[in-house]
Amino acid sequence: MRSLAIQFFARRKLPGPVIFESVKKECDNMSTTAELKSAKLPILKTALPGPKSREIIERDRQYISPSYTRNYPFVMQRGRGAMVEDPDGNVFLDLNAGVAVCSTGHSHPQVVEAIKQQLDEFIHICAADFYYPQMPALAERLNRLAPGGFEKKVHFGNSGAEAIEGSLKLAFHSTRRQKVIGFYGSFHGRTLGALSLTASKARQRGGFGRQALDVSHIPYANCYRCPYNLTPETCGAMESKGPHCARVIEDLLFKTTIPADECAAIVVEPVQGEGGYVVPPASFLQTIRSIADRHGMLVIADEVQSGMGRTGRMFASEHAGFVPDILASAKGIASGLPLSATIARADLMDWKPGAHASTFGGNPVAIAAALATIDLLEDHLIANAAKMGEYLMEGMRELMKKHPMIGDVRGQGLMIGMELVRDRQTKEPAIEERDRFEVECYRRGLLVLGCGPNTIRLSPPLVIDREQCDFTLKTFDEVLSVL
Ligand SMILES: Cc1ncc(COP(=O)(O)O)c(C=O)c1O
Repeated sequence: MRSLAIQFFARRKLPGPVIFESVKKECDNMSTTAELKSAKLPILKTALPGPKSREIIERDRQYISPSYTRNYPFVMQRGRGAMVEDPDGNVFLDLNAGVAVCSTGHSHPQVVEAIKQQLDEFIHICAADFYYPQMPALAERLNRLAPGGFEKKVHFGNSGAEAIEGSLKLAFHSTRRQKVIGFYGSFHGRTLGALSLTASKARQRGGFGRQALDVSHIPYANCYRCPYNLTPETCGAMESKGPHCARVIEDLLFKTTIPADECAAIVVEPVQGEGGYVVPPASFLQTIRSIADRHGMLVIADEVQSGMGRTGRMFASEHAGFVPDILASAKGIASGLPLSATIARADLMDWKPGAHASTFGGNPVAIAAALATIDLLEDHLIANAAKMGEYLMEGMRELMKKHPMIGDVRGQGLMIGMELVRDRQTKEPAIEERDRFEVECYRRGLLVLGCGPNTIRLSPPLVIDREQCDFTLKTFDEVLSVL
């Protein structure tokens, strides 16, 4: 019978794992937490995946919904900072952070302490029925941090999708309109309302019938692959009228399919995440803002992935001087505990008691983690994200000189995409190569994931340091040489 690892890769049509025979040892040399704490770079002790990991993967396959996307067989045992350890004692450098969630690093002591203190006080009381001080404390802070000098109010949920659902419901409720504009390539979650907005991969929608909401999609501002074959010099991005890709909302959509006075909101990711870590020109976001203002509709910024310090600012919208009416935040907000926030103009939140709430949304333990997270972000982690992001992108642009497969390097702070192509001229996407890139990195102790069809996504914990960036660049160089 074929080994589980071989079966795992065969099922996904990926190359088999390297067996590090020379370093293969029994699992009794598993790292201690102390060892993990001091580890700055990967330590590989067994063949990958090791025997304990294989056992867990096998059980997972037996009992867990197959709808999860696992590209290679990493199993998590514990983590500290930017390092994670599998059950076999192998230590990896994590450039994914649970998809941009563990912003302060794995189990940051200050966050853990805040959680423990809250656990001793109380774990849950339903915010839909009673009051507790943690909620206004976090809301006050978020309101101050979110773009826009106006008064705001917050509704708490548990996930990114819930923050989007809350944003949409609020937009419908306050405008009394029901049509929405979204963008191809965008990802907003998988609940039925959010899924109507999501236009990232057909398989995310397949089998789920027609979209629940009346959403029209248009192309996002992707200057590397301009959907209209224009350039920033020719599309209007550098003029006051703004880029063509935003202007089509008025020039085309409102004239053909969407009466402007029926459109409730335009929903946009200030940096497109799952679609390929695409950074639009600032004028794209600003033009969307002006169009919405002209027609009395709202702008919802989905900062679920780009927010909470990841881009070197608290929110990515700030890079463009972009001020949404409603902002959805989640992922990095509580360093890994489930929490999301819909932060909106106070005057929009005029819905009545019972209009929107959930049992767990705004859980006090998650809020304690969020308050500790924001302390750390403001203290030094946002600055580190800006600095390390710049350093990594510089290094990756240097690698472009040696590796023609790198078509584009783009990003803000530690939200970085490296798009792989088969040919720089034709920009033919290197889709299989991207998947192999992920696996080759894993074999070398580096956890990276993709986004879009052919982009490598870097969304490490914001604690990553220069030595770890150097290791990343060295590994990328090595992997690109063997692809
Ligand atoms: C931009 C964006 N919005 C919404 C979501 C959905 O978040 P969740 O998976 O927590 O529901 C995601 C998740 O990746 C996202 O990246």
